[in-house]
Amino acid sequence: MKNFLPVLALCACFAAEATAQSFAPAGWADDLKLAETADRNPDPKIVEIDLVAKLADVTVDGKTVHAWTYNGGLPGPLIKTRVGDRLIVHFKNELDEPTTVHWHGVRVPIEMDGVPEISQPEVKKGESFTYDFVVRDAGLYWYHPHVMSAAQVGFGLYGALLVEDPADGVGVDDQLTLVLSDIGFDAKGKLEPGDSGGSAGMVFGREGDYVLANGRRRPALRARPGAPQRWRIVNAAKSRFFYLDLDGQPFTVIGTDGGLQEKPVTTDILLVTPGERVDVIVSPKGKAGTPLALRAMLYNRGYGSVEYRAVEDVLTIEFTKEAPITAKPVTITRALEPPSTEGATPVDVVLTLPPMKDNKSEFQVNGVPFWKAKPYLAKLGEKQLWIVKNDSDWDHPFHLHGFFFQVIDEKGRPVRPLALKDTVNVPMKTTMRLLVTFDERPGEWMFHCHILDHADGGLMGTVLVGDVTPSGHVHGKR
Ligand code: C2O
Ligand code: CU
Repeated sequence: MKNFLPVLALCACFAAEATAQSFAPAGWADDLKLAETADRNPDPKIVEIDLVAKLADVTVDGKTVHAWTYNGGLPGPLIKTRVGDRLIVHFKNELDEPTTVHWHGVRVPIEMDGVPEISQPEVKKGESFTYDFVVRDAGLYWYHPHVMSAAQVGFGLYGALLVEDPADGVGVDDQLTLVLSDIGFDAKGKLEPGDSGGSAGMVFGREGDYVLANGRRRPALRARPGAPQRWRIVNAAKSRFFYLDLDGQPFTVIGTDGGLQEKPVTTDILLVTPGERVDVIVSPKGKAGTPLALRAMLYNRGYGSVEYRAVEDVLTIEFTKEAPITAKPVTITRALEPPSTEGATPVDVVLTLPPMKDNKSEFQVNGVPFWKAKPYLAKLGEKQLWIVKNDSDWDHPFHLHGFFFQVIDEKGRPVRPLALKDTVNVPMKTTMRLLVTFDERPGEWMFHCHILDHADGGLMGTVLVGDVTPSGHVHGKR
């Protein structure tokens, strides 16, 4: 299914950039427009914004839904910065419940990581907190709460943070940030409760019935046939996997969680698990009058998750009558050093789901759920090889806060193309090896399954990096 495009020298990218031009018709992506935050700081190196968590009525598929929102919209506003900028976020909680903001994938200092009891106090109703950090790495990131995460994300609290590198050389002008998610609500627009289905709901991972792209159900975009578009996609659903198909037309993956990857890879079906991001070039082909659907296909992430689901249209592409364009092959590369596992400390992480006890299920890491776990340990600058063994019958998108890792194969070689990840799917009954170097930022950092119901169900832990005191985090839910 996957075939590799030839690697081309970096100079090819500049050539591509020089010829970049827009092919999309005016208003081509109006249906998918994300609200953007207003930067109130005149300094070009500082982006300073306001973010308010509050209840708001939003329209989904023509129905009014009483959602939990950032700044009143679903999803939250797109925050746009350039790599190296300082981002200051004046956050206010106008919800009735406590919350925080976690900056998924961003190498923040621990004080800005948004985990209650570990990195900051909860932001209670009516309170404020200022997040202030430098965005060190280009890429698409996202933000969401870390208090009752499964419920709060499911209710609508998530948004994208785009860190652009104007010199990335991708050279495709027509760009889209796509926040994929889902939401569940009843006929009155009341949200599906975060604990629906009890323990079984937790184990399955709750999916909302309405699949959304940028907060809308089946939005349409317009395109000139064959013209290249760059889509930066984040899966912000709390449990749903997006297994994307464009009627078999290829996706050229140029990057993932931590920005561009070593070289492009072409695939005709694209898996994006909760928390992950992909940066792809597509050049959809078709005729005026015959729309092309981007579909979410069925993916078996555990028994039942195929049988009870349907294929969903995520968005549709309508073609103009213009003559088709033949897009040039994508050649963008990134010079990443192949990492070596030499000297890496091996760390075992075994994920299990023991049989139910007293009608309750809990996920465990090395034999204990989060509330009984002791932190893992790492020194500043230490390289570790996390051997994540999934012994359960469910896939788990494994996420580490604050640091990128690289995936290593069973022979100890880095998986190509090289890419920086912070979330990776560990399919059921398989083992993934993740090489991470804990850099100069001390703190107690979380790791967990990004099926947020699984995280709530015990599949979480922390790693103490550097000489820091553990928080003794045994109470509370994240
Ligand atoms: Cu995106 Cu701890 O999470
Ligand atoms: Cu999981």
